[in-house]
Amino acid sequence: MSQPLTARRSAPISGRVRVPGDKSISHRALILGALATGRTRIQGLLEAEDVMATARAVAALGAEVTQSGAIVEVVGQGVGGLRAPDSPLDFGNSGTASRLMLGVIAGHDMRAGFTGDASLCRRPMGRVLGPLTTMGLQVEGERENLPLTVQGTQDLIPIVYDLPVPSAQVKSAILLAGLHAPGRTTVIEPLPTRDHTERMLRFFGAELKVEDRADGTRAVTVCGDAELSAANFAVPGDPSSAAFLAAAALICPGSEVVIENVLLNPTRIGFFDTLREMGADIEVLDMRDEGGEPAGDLRVKASKLKGVRVPPERAPSMIDEYPVLAAVAAFAEGETRMEGLAELKVKESDRLAATAAGLAACGVEARVEGDDLIVRGTGTVRGGGHVETQMDHRIAMAFLTLGLGAEEPVTVDDIGMIATSFPGFVPLMSGLGAQLG
Ligand code: S3P
Repeated sequence: MSQPLTARRSAPISGRVRVPGDKSISHRALILGALATGRTRIQGLLEAEDVMATARAVAALGAEVTQSGAIVEVVGQGVGGLRAPDSPLDFGNSGTASRLMLGVIAGHDMRAGFTGDASLCRRPMGRVLGPLTTMGLQVEGERENLPLTVQGTQDLIPIVYDLPVPSAQVKSAILLAGLHAPGRTTVIEPLPTRDHTERMLRFFGAELKVEDRADGTRAVTVCGDAELSAANFAVPGDPSSAAFLAAAALICPGSEVVIENVLLNPTRIGFFDTLREMGADIEVLDMRDEGGEPAGDLRVKASKLKGVRVPPERAPSMIDEYPVLAAVAAFAEGETRMEGLAELKVKESDRLAATAAGLAACGVEARVEGDDLIVRGTGTVRGGGHVETQMDHRIAMAFLTLGLGAEEPVTVDDIGMIATSFPGFVPLMSGLGAQLG
């Protein structure tokens, strides 16, 4: 049953808060914990449905996962030490969990079924299955979508792979498979994508080389037959969740929020860089290191914004933030042109189309030109729309955020999927003064 929710124009959004742990890092912590030798302790793991899918998967493969208070422990089985699951692995809505785990299964002599929800079963898997089958993974029935069954091998072949699309999931799946192969496996990415797998592999003791090349590409090489040792670390807050709080504070006059302990990895902060170019008052307080990742507190104050051009090469560093950037751009003066958004079409929904349709429903002038999204801001937004979220958590949160600054209430058709990445979004926002109900 769908759960609609309405956002109304709000008084200043203010307070000091933490957002839940970073989703990308949480998936990787569970996976590397399962492949390490010994007991890994993770503090601040994101307890959202996507990450629970990874936890269930590694447990089904023989890595014990337990929780006591704020600490989640994983008892690793060593690289190549997992066992075949009794039934198909269900990854729910999570592209990251399913694609990374394909890389893990590739290096084990086992047969495993992969399934997920309707959205995940529509998403392209060929982009991971292509390189993984070159390494030795077998796919039953030559399928390119879930549900599918694969057979891994202990005799993987290391490869050098040029990524055709900038995708951290594909890169990570190949690097995880490479841990199990003899020799060196290299992934060359056209533009740097989020590098949490690389940082965490080093943190767990793997040998890894990263080379930034003169042509702007990046080559990442992992040494195979690796041994990983269990590690203890804390997961910083998710910048992709903090994005909604920052956006709400910017568009609701008089707001000031401090979001504590946000991951500020350079491959993830394109959204905040763009907001600053638009004139946003955002300050980073107290930069520090959390488990091999940079983190800090963000102070955001309501600001008068202007439209900007967002270049295509910035897309990987803010790929999940375009729907909420489009919402903010609607409140700016002038045109915001977001370029090179082809990858948005293959997310949990076609986010390019869903964002454009939501903006139109809220009286915002916006258009799609090829892979670009253009939003004409006038400083105020009419709102009053009913937005279809297309089973997509980020579309739901982006348009609820837009509604907090709009003249008329904005209703989204279903908030159920928000639990995949940001459980507690509604009470957290309400606690800061957001009118949601
Ligand atoms: C992710 C990579 C990105 C991003 C997703 C998480 C990751 O996907 O959109 O939310 O954790 O590696 P792509 O690799 O498809 O760009």
